[in-house]
Amino acid sequence: MRLAFIGYGNMSSALIGGILSSNKFNPSDEIYIFHNKKNSDFNLEKCKFLESGTEVNGSFEIIFLCVKPQDIETAINENINIFRDDQTVISVAAGVTVGTIKKLLRNNSSVIRAMPNLCAVYNESITGICMEDESSSERKGIVEEIFRGIGHVRKIDENEMHDFTALFGSGPAYLIYFYEALLDCGKFKNISNEDKSMLIIHLLNSTSKMLFVTKDVKNLRHSISSKGGTTEAAIKLLEDKNFKEIIAEALEVAMKRSKDISK
Ligand SMILES: NC(=O)c1ccc[n+]([C@@H]2O[C@H](COP(=O)([O-])OP(=O)(O)OC[C@H]3O[C@@H](n4cnc5c(N)ncnc54)[C@H](OP(=O)(O)O)[C@@H]3O)[C@@H](O)[C@H]2O)c1
Repeated sequence: MRLAFIGYGNMSSALIGGILSSNKFNPSDEIYIFHNKKNSDFNLEKCKFLESGTEVNGSFEIIFLCVKPQDIETAINENINIFRDDQTVISVAAGVTVGTIKKLLRNNSSVIRAMPNLCAVYNESITGICMEDESSSERKGIVEEIFRGIGHVRKIDENEMHDFTALFGSGPAYLIYFYEALLDCGKFKNISNEDKSMLIIHLLNSTSKMLFVTKDVKNLRHSISSKGGTTEAAIKLLEDKNFKEIIAEALEVAMKRSKDISK
């Protein structure tokens, strides 16, 4: 299989890294990466790096669009000669609709939208895929396999993309922000920041293990927050300050931003 990526930034390098390290990548598969950096010396085993707009012989079965939403139009126009009717084009751009991409492509290729997250680099992405425009069940299977190779996959409708983007696309940044809040709290003058950071990462890791196996999350939290104890006091303050409402509001803002980009 021949795959092409347009754009070589955070998301495409995470995706490519995930694909290369997954057991779904065949030695005969090829990855072409079209980037916009002049005189770059990119080098990645099994990948060919080309400047955006470079003409290539032969065709690609799947093309990934991995540029920022505002760069999609230029990236497609610059590389218009690689697009064909029988391809599947996968866009990971937040907020850019299937309809918009189809208009820009001006051909009959199938357009799939995917919303992975940066955990793809560790094959732990949570990816929402909208495949309403793809009619070939074989191609759908291949695309699903590619994304399963880099983590967990949920098939969703395009109208759920905004919610998915806000929660799971941006999700790693929210959790990192929470980690930063714990790290920056100014406590433990005798523990170095490096040690504190490692302990907080262990805390997040071990807590997620408990979450994985527990059947009743609320009960789990109550079992840690004994009556009149320290945890209960801290959680009460978070509740008094409407912590959950602030999180919900932040998600709303992210969803609105995704909707604004799609206009
Ligand atoms: N980062 C995430 O966590 C995440 C999660 C889900 C979805 N996404 C989506 O993934 C897409 C890429 O995000 P990102 O974080 O990877 O951004 P990024 O790091 O800025 O990568 C985009 C790359 O595309 C390059 N580019 C711009 N125009 C180009 C063109 N015409 N031809 C070839 N390359 C071009 C950019 O170069 P310059 O820097 O020179 O402009 C940059 O290197 C976005 O649409 C975003 O919505 C990202």
